[in-house]
Amino acid sequence: MDVKERAARGLEVVRQRSLNLVDPVPEQDLIRQHSPLMSPLVWDLAHVGNFEEIWLLRTIAGLPAKDPQLDDIYDAFRHARKERTRLKLLDPTQSRSYISEVRGRVMDTLERIELNPANPLLADGYVYGMVIQHEHQHDETMLATLQLRVGEYPLVEPARPVPEPVHVAEVLIPGGSFVMGSSTEPWAYDNERPAHEVHVDAFWMDTVPVSNGDYIGFIEADGYNDGRWWSERGWAHRHDQSLEHPQFWQRDATGWNRVRFGRREVLPLDEPVQHVCWFEAEAYANWAGKRLPTELEWEKAASWDPESGVKRRFPWGDSEPTPDLANLEQRYFAPGPVGAYSAGASAYGCRQMVGDVWEWTSSDFVAYPGSTGFPYKEYSEVFYGKDYKVLRGGSWATHPTAIRNTFRNWDHPIRRQIFSGFRCARSV
Ligand code: AVJ
Ligand code: FE
Repeated sequence: MDVKERAARGLEVVRQRSLNLVDPVPEQDLIRQHSPLMSPLVWDLAHVGNFEEIWLLRTIAGLPAKDPQLDDIYDAFRHARKERTRLKLLDPTQSRSYISEVRGRVMDTLERIELNPANPLLADGYVYGMVIQHEHQHDETMLATLQLRVGEYPLVEPARPVPEPVHVAEVLIPGGSFVMGSSTEPWAYDNERPAHEVHVDAFWMDTVPVSNGDYIGFIEADGYNDGRWWSERGWAHRHDQSLEHPQFWQRDATGWNRVRFGRREVLPLDEPVQHVCWFEAEAYANWAGKRLPTELEWEKAASWDPESGVKRRFPWGDSEPTPDLANLEQRYFAPGPVGAYSAGASAYGCRQMVGDVWEWTSSDFVAYPGSTGFPYKEYSEVFYGKDYKVLRGGSWATHPTAIRNTFRNWDHPIRRQIFSGFRCARSV
């Protein structure tokens, strides 16, 4: 496929995904605020179209704004998520027609755009890749909103992948240098660039993420009431918010249940734990006598092939994800059992590093040495600093286009409505 075909196909795939996700949702539930942490779904829907208009029609094709007011309404920095229902939002019908109108023009202009390799926005179709990934990321955000919504969301659920035995709980990753980030991945974000060599001391990495069953061990050991395991901020937050278990969990006489897309079901003990905040992950790791990996450790364990000294795009190699390699794209609307996807293991033998659950790392979200904010500061640059922790690897709700070994996600350490879990590491 040439670059234009890849762009056209990627745009089509992501739009189908977005429309499919909102299709079963009643109009009122598209407009309603389901949580102060999230936008109304209809905001996300039109925001992706506005982003596409700004970049692909105005910046690239030089077309005038359709309606400059939309730029204000759909600017994520001008209005907090919890304020967005009060804006003069396009209604669901108008939103659908706005984004499809923008898309129609994008397809018309794509023919005549020259993908000039000297223009970094156009080289390898970068700006198209950015718009495609942006919409996929909002689709994952909409899935988090749908999980918070009250009421059953219709799920398509193929038979779940079979758990595979995990013979080795942790692997030793020898110390030494490896290449962090990428300078060659065509659609990598600014925050993944540039590739740079880093030294990592030897460490032990868990081969699989922490499971619900493991996490119950922490709860039953009274971990939520034992200040030894929590950092000062974590302990304060745990009390402030009365945290006693992961979000969406419930306990009754029969044991642990969870609510998933509006259905209450028995908690599967062999799934990776999700909907934990960074502070809970940190406390669990301390209790287990371990720690969270740094993002350097995470990326080395996921990407480095020590035999060839070559970095892999995905844990298993350079080939695109397939259903037997990783759990992505809301195929099951849940993580797969811990130990599944052995075919998708990294060179060091770590499984499920891509897909299933985002994995909290101990690292703050900071710029790589020599990186530049490109093409706009509001994607990464304004978030660099101590306020955000890095998550890696994508979740079951992430699309293959928006994940790779170098991909960096970030959030406040108190957030857990995202599909967040973790795996542990320990120093040698
Ligand atoms: C990378 C997931 C933190 O949702 O805030 C969407 C992605 N950036 N629109 C976010 C994003 C602009 C971003 N995260
Ligand atoms: Fe956005």
